[in-house]
Amino acid sequence: MKIFGLRNISYSYKGRTALENVSFDIHQGESISILGANGSGKSTLLYMLQGLLKPSSGELAAFEKEASGIIDPRISMLFQNSQAQLFCLSVWDELVSGPLQRGLGAAAASQRAEDIMQLLAIGHLKDRSPWQLSGGEMKKVALGTCLSTNPDVFLLDEPTAGLDPRSQVEFMELIAGLRKAGKTIITATHDLHIIQDLSERAIVLGEDHRLLEDDLPANVLAKKDVLLKANLIHEHMHAHVGYKHEHSHFGAHDHNEIKQEPSAFKEEQMDAKLKVLLEHWMEHNEEHAKTYLEWAEKARKEGNAALAGILEKIAKESGNLTRLFEQAKGKL
Ligand SMILES: Nc1ncnc2c1ncn2[C@@H]1O[C@H](COP(=O)(O)OP(=O)(O)OP(=O)(O)O)[C@@H](O)[C@H]1O
Ligand SMILES: [Mg+2]
Repeated sequence: MKIFGLRNISYSYKGRTALENVSFDIHQGESISILGANGSGKSTLLYMLQGLLKPSSGELAAFEKEASGIIDPRISMLFQNSQAQLFCLSVWDELVSGPLQRGLGAAAASQRAEDIMQLLAIGHLKDRSPWQLSGGEMKKVALGTCLSTNPDVFLLDEPTAGLDPRSQVEFMELIAGLRKAGKTIITATHDLHIIQDLSERAIVLGEDHRLLEDDLPANVLAKKDVLLKANLIHEHMHAHVGYKHEHSHFGAHDHNEIKQEPSAFKEEQMDAKLKVLLEHWMEHNEEHAKTYLEWAEKARKEGNAALAGILEKIAKESGNLTRLFEQAKGKL
């Protein structure tokens, strides 16, 4: 079943373009990442799918009917700003109010709220005011309210922003479960390193608010020109004394393309240049070692102790390399 059909959709906020001539279809059970730089139109697109905004031009169909502009209970949205969707006096009230409004009896609504608190590990927040929670706690409660009505379609606006590493892993597990249950999930995110696990399709919005790419996540990640154009990765320059190099970043670290190898340096500059390079390599080496440890921690939490052990070994070996770099510097 086609859940959404967009034909030449544009949207402007009082003359300020937010989306320009966007067309694509979304089918039941798909999990799709929406990527794009700040201001490219991701949230606007989700508001439109939710029925909060009507396109300025173009045709939008939801559940194979022309979108009515009325919020459909089969669709639930996690807002980028969690405060926008939390309005009850306690977390418990937030979690039971949706089911009660949808006509569930008090006992069934309570049971659902209990289940969600357990699923999201937020039971300890039950009696707290949603307004006095931390950003990550608020996001979990907001996600809980989305889950509480058991919708068919989830629109998630930056769901992992502000979540600690363990909560991010738990969120990914939750999404995996929802996908298995046949839910349709559309997620706006900047987190390029999660999109392959999160989705089977990635849609990229350009800074001109047009659709730039609609492809498998792996293919999108491989198109560095597209990612650079969409401002999803950045080419940044390290200006060290006497030489520079550039590398792109996505997710963790994509490797240095050193533009000038030591052999290209003039003979008399050899010592100074090599010293700079050794310092630079060492700096990245330490940075990488930290990343290996972070991933080791994630792997351990996911129960993959074997992988965690290997990653920890790599981190340790990286530490040994740092000592070798120091020794090399001492010989100059
Ligand atoms: N309420 C509003 N009134 C006027 N302009 C708006 C409003 N909301 C968003 N815009 C503008 O519309 C464009 C798209 O904004 P949108 O929030 O959809 O971007 P986004 O891709 O979600 O960005 P971010 O990554 O920062 O969340 C931006 O230029 C933004 O300034
Ligand atoms: Mg946004």
